Amino acid sequence: MKIYSEELKKKYGFEFKMRIGLNSGPVIVGSIGDDLRMDYTAIGDTTNLAARMESMAEPGTVLVSPITYKRVSQQFKFNPRGKVEVKGKKEPLDVYELVGQVDKSGAGLDRQIYSEMVGRDKELDKLELQVMKAINGEGSVINIIGEAGIGKSRLVSELRNSPLKKRVTLLEGRAISIGRNLSFHPIINLLKHWARIKDDDNTATAFGKLETAVRRACQEDTDEILPFVATLMGIKLSGRYAQSIEGIEGEALEKQILKHMKDLLIKATDLTPLVFVTEDLHWADTSSIELLESLFRLSETRRIVFVNVFRPHHKETGDRIIETLKERRTEYYVEISLQPLDEENSETLINNMLNIKGLYHGVKDKIIQRAGGNPFFIEEVVRSFIDEGAVVKKNGIFEVTDKIDTMTIPHTINDVLMARIDRLDENTRDLVKVASVIGRNFFYRIITEVAKTVDDIDSRLSYLKEIQLIRERSRMEELEYLFKHALAQEAAYESILFQKRKQLHLTVADSIEKVFNEKLHEFYGVLAFHYTQGEDEEKTEKYLIKAGEEALKSSASSEALHYFHEALNLYLKKYGDTADPEKVAMLEKNIAFAYFNRGQFIEAAEYFSKVLAFYGEIEIKLSVSGIFKLFLRFLYLLAGLYLPFLRWKKTPSSQDSEISYLAFQQGQCLAVIDINRFVIELMNHSKRLILFDISQLKKGVDYFCSVSSLFSYGGISPMATQNPPLVAT
Ligand SMILES: Nc1ncnc2c1ncn2[C@@H]1O[C@H](COP(=O)(O)OP(=O)(O)OP(=O)(O)O)[C@@H](O)[C@H]1O
Ligand SMILES: [Mg+2]
Repeated sequence: MKIYSEELKKKYGFEFKMRIGLNSGPVIVGSIGDDLRMDYTAIGDTTNLAARMESMAEPGTVLVSPITYKRVSQQFKFNPRGKVEVKGKKEPLDVYELVGQVDKSGAGLDRQIYSEMVGRDKELDKLELQVMKAINGEGSVINIIGEAGIGKSRLVSELRNSPLKKRVTLLEGRAISIGRNLSFHPIINLLKHWARIKDDDNTATAFGKLETAVRRACQEDTDEILPFVATLMGIKLSGRYAQSIEGIEGEALEKQILKHMKDLLIKATDLTPLVFVTEDLHWADTSSIELLESLFRLSETRRIVFVNVFRPHHKETGDRIIETLKERRTEYYVEISLQPLDEENSETLINNMLNIKGLYHGVKDKIIQRAGGNPFFIEEVVRSFIDEGAVVKKNGIFEVTDKIDTMTIPHTINDVLMARIDRLDENTRDLVKVASVIGRNFFYRIITEVAKTVDDIDSRLSYLKEIQLIRERSRMEELEYLFKHALAQEAAYESILFQKRKQLHLTVADSIEKVFNEKLHEFYGVLAFHYTQGEDEEKTEKYLIKAGEEALKSSASSEALHYFHEALNLYLKKYGDTADPEKVAMLEKNIAFAYFNRGQFIEAAEYFSKVLAFYGEIEIKLSVSGIFKLFLRFLYLLAGLYLPFLRWKKTPSSQDSEISYLAFQQGQCLAVIDINRFVIELMNHSKRLILFDISQLKKGVDYFCSVSSLFSYGGISPMATQNPPLVAT
């Protein structure tokens, strides 16, 4: 940018400055107004933040978001610009100014992780066997097929380190994701690689290098072959070479190109056996596919192995090649289909990469589960641990830190998964997105209700099953599906615009209420979640409370705690000072019980105090008047105990009963956490023993026992326990 700006200044005499803002993440590409249709505008949170970065950048600088920074901080140098408030973000963000490229040597060493190849012995044997056969004169075509990140390229790269490599010529070309319309691009890439042509070589240099390479392989036939190969590569010809192809156009030119490419390979196989690798063939253009299909026949007679590496379910490229080869019934066709690693191998992979002694099983299991046997995912999760400082390198050895439990999903995995989802046809993609709003698992009856506008749901679901994006099972006597990778659901979900998401959550909640009306109690938590996301506060609160009560019943106290806390926060946020104290107290009571059940007595006591305060039961402070009050209570209690006619024996109201019950619960907490407060609070509430018929108090007998214990604490228990007539039952 700077160089260009200087050039303009010199040439035209004006200042030219640009500023750039970068952010990374999923975007929605679509026409505004209908976010699921393809067009060429990228929108969404990611682009909004990029625009914010741009507007904050000084002219002549590049400002990046923390998300982009994390991805490329190993390759580029940045100056931290501190925290910056960004509209629409709760927390200020760390932004960075790009200053240059990192010196490659030794960069990112602390982040480097490596593993030997694990669990692919059979597949490697199969591949090497075909190469061996080629060395012995028998060619073949191999398709290496597998999901993104499963280890296809890794398998091929093992070949590079194999002793067999010395006995063959390895030609490698790679298709690129934007290349569906770039004619012959993987073939061109392979030829450039072979002739050692670099991207910045000018035409003359490139042509010179190609000439040398072709001459090495074909000697006297060079003049004939070279112009066609150069034309295929888009290298402009001049002089006699230009003349030699003059007048040959269109189909005739294509045929000639094919013929001479064949000749080139035939000549090359005369010198050494060839391994012709096309990486990422799923992205190849149609011309390359057609060319390859006709080249494959060479394997029937020549020492050549074609290795086609691609992801499954690409109709016009990979699937087409499989079909062609199967139709030809060629004996030279071999398929290597890579499956996810099993748990044992996944674990070995993690051990190899981190080699940490203290890495406990829980963490490994978490990685294994998240990654579903995909080595790339495993690597990315491990890398994210390193990035976030959950794993650090000290003296060349990795160690685990406390941060390990708060890890997030690396963005690159989302990209990979999103690529899979984007490949689906529009309606199926919509179905996946709707499903992702329902959750990692979704009932058949709900998806059919929510995705009413999608036709032919059954066959779409079975296709998604077939391509292993989802699995089927039965739960609660219902047909249910689940996303195979949790991450796939998350990626699909994140690709939906915020407004659309909100609306979908409400539709999902609505459908659940309708479809599962009879067993709604099992869905309270789920409903609370969907209504929260849909921002329907009233319904959220209703279901949070119901979910909390349900959880307390089933002694799922941590869930209960979560639901009641959420409900309380939501309620207070909504009503602030005008909140109904009784409702607040009801929620606080439930929180207190949930804490109590979890054994968190400090927090429980705090919440019991709050609820008691609502009933007017204020804690006694240890001031002069407080102590005097306690002393009077004590006398009152003694009088009541020893002079039975003083006892009121009033029938307690439900509120009285509730208060003594809460006081008793609070006492149980205090007995554990603070014995002095326990004594004081018990004294404070002891008047109830004289006022009421305790047999009618909720937990009255227990209450009596705890007051007795107070006497035992004071050393006068015998006297108290000799007077049990208070207990009616
Ligand atoms: N069996 C294995 N043992 C150890 N590491 C592996 C294994 N398989 C893959 N890896 C590592 O996982 C990462 C992803 O693998 P690879 O690049 O081969 O995936 P791929 O199938 O080619 O994916 P894509 O379709 O995206 O190109 C690489 O870093 C690779 O080294
Ligand atoms: Mg690959």
